[in-house]
Amino acid sequence: MSLKIGNTELAGSVILAPMAGVSDLPFRLLCHEQGADLVCMEMVSAKAIAYRNRNTRKLMQIDPAERPVSLQLFGSEPELMAEIAKEIEEEPFDILDINMGCPVPKIVGNGEGSALMRDPKLVEQIISKVAGAIKKPVTVKIRKGFDDAHVNAVEIARIAEGSGAAAIAVHGRTREQYYSGKADWDIIRQVKEAVSIPVIGNGDVDSPRKARAMLEETGCDGVMVGRAARGNPWIFRQIREYLINGREEPKPSLEEVRSMMLRHARMQVEYKGDYTGIREMRKHVSWYTAGLPHSARLRARINSVESLKELEEILTIGFC
Ligand SMILES: Cc1cc2nc3c(=O)[nH]c(=O)nc-3n(C[C@H](O)[C@H](O)[C@H](O)COP(=O)(O)O)c2cc1C
Repeated sequence: MSLKIGNTELAGSVILAPMAGVSDLPFRLLCHEQGADLVCMEMVSAKAIAYRNRNTRKLMQIDPAERPVSLQLFGSEPELMAEIAKEIEEEPFDILDINMGCPVPKIVGNGEGSALMRDPKLVEQIISKVAGAIKKPVTVKIRKGFDDAHVNAVEIARIAEGSGAAAIAVHGRTREQYYSGKADWDIIRQVKEAVSIPVIGNGDVDSPRKARAMLEETGCDGVMVGRAARGNPWIFRQIREYLINGREEPKPSLEEVRSMMLRHARMQVEYKGDYTGIREMRKHVSWYTAGLPHSARLRARINSVESLKELEEILTIGFC
């Protein structure tokens, strides 16, 4: 069950995926508390760090209580990425991850994220430079390939291993698929068979049963959960319980959902201030309450909420 990535020992093998706009510090703390064995930060641009961008620095805030934590860099210039990796190495993250999966046009247009999978030579240069520059383990997150005509996850994983990567995460979709269709778990199995570093499977794990199925079908060493964790940090506890004891935990009660939302909102405000914290909390409330009775009405009210006090009132009195 445990998983070792370089010198970082994880207590188990269930990981919160990096999600820009979602896996911020408050959310990571809650997922850690609920049993995520590793939490991944929102991607940050190596160039933006080099330019001392203030928003980027905020994204890099880490609380020792959330560790082990993985910081993800994106970029395409080997020298710059290695320089930045070295510059930030003293920050309290445990693992440095390199993004080779982002499908967003602006990123791909700059030759970053999933665009790197079209250039194996550059992949090799980036990983070997970054891994050579720091002592902390360097991991890589890739997709199945760029498009159906270029499925090369196995080739890229071999290059990553040969260049010093300590583990590789594979999202079983091509860049062209974005998040649509079904993730191809067979490509995860193929990568697992091709390399001896730990392989983390990713794509469509939304329940404890799916987590176990992915581990069994692909032989992967860990599972990474993305969208299904939104509004549902309990999923980590549920998966862990199922993998260890075969027990299916009940869904959280309404009271648990309410108290998690309240804590989440207070943490958002603490880290981001009232204005941003509350606005960002709106989407989390939508995720927490999706499918619950009267959730549409609650969401309508939450979407015009301006302060923590107002939000607390709605969640305390108006919820249920
Ligand atoms: C809103 C959102 C933001 C994401 N941001 C990142 C990111 O910053 N870095 C990254 O490597 N992947 C990112 N991803 C991809 C996820 O890490 C994951 O690979 C993908 O959602 C598939 O896993 P899932 O089916 O469990 O959601 C993002 C996905 C979503 C939905």
